[in-house]
Amino acid sequence: MRRPVIAGNWKMNKTVSEAVKLVEELKPLIEGASAEVVVCPTFVCLNDLVKTSKNSNIGVGAQNMYYKDSGAYTGEISPVFLKDIGVEYVILGHSERRQYFKEDDSEINKKVVAALDHKLKPILCVGETLKQREAGEAFDVVSAQVKGCLKDLESRNLDDLIIAYEPVWAIGTGKTATSRDANEVIGFIRKQLVELCGNDMAEKTRILYGGSVKSSNIKELMNMSEIDGALVGGASLDAKEFSGIVKFNL
Ligand code: 13P
Repeated sequence: MRRPVIAGNWKMNKTVSEAVKLVEELKPLIEGASAEVVVCPTFVCLNDLVKTSKNSNIGVGAQNMYYKDSGAYTGEISPVFLKDIGVEYVILGHSERRQYFKEDDSEINKKVVAALDHKLKPILCVGETLKQREAGEAFDVVSAQVKGCLKDLESRNLDDLIIAYEPVWAIGTGKTATSRDANEVIGFIRKQLVELCGNDMAEKTRILYGGSVKSSNIKELMNMSEIDGALVGGASLDAKEFSGIVKFNL
């Protein structure tokens, strides 16, 4: 059985005081939830949120990191710094980073390797654009991303790996992929994992869906056989709405 993961990607929203307030509001609302719950605020909020979420069922993740440990890389944050303050997860390869900051699969691959080496749980994002979907290329694009981002992992412990399928056209648009479409692509990703790391690992790896997930559509998504949780953007910025997603099975 794969334990569901519900992760909130707050993107560039919530100042430190707002972030602390949101987690304080969230804590009682999601007490006893069966899903693994993660919130991913901006870098400057991480330290405070690790403290605020202590003794709760909320884990904290970063939204990005660089793959080197330290050195002359102005403006970057490494896995060493994230681990040092108690961060457990890191979102890697989000489509907004691919689009606005020109990250490619080979760079994302280095980040995945570095995250695993430092015992951070990477939430690797993959997904096609609308143009690619309309051209019938969705499966090829996702396959190339999975293979490109998960190279050279042979000797690594992949238990920590989480993947999120986020079709770019469904992010922040209010358009959700149908649960059947999402399930089909996620099943396809699992098949790629079988080739890359074997059946056992593929069966264990949690693969989430992301793109306009709300408390009103989470149940249907979670009823699908391959979908193991959600990476939530906009709807994770409100405690009540996010708790409704976390408690999808109650
Ligand atoms: P929305 O839930 O706002 O569509 O964002 C999805 C996303 O990008 C999560 O990483």
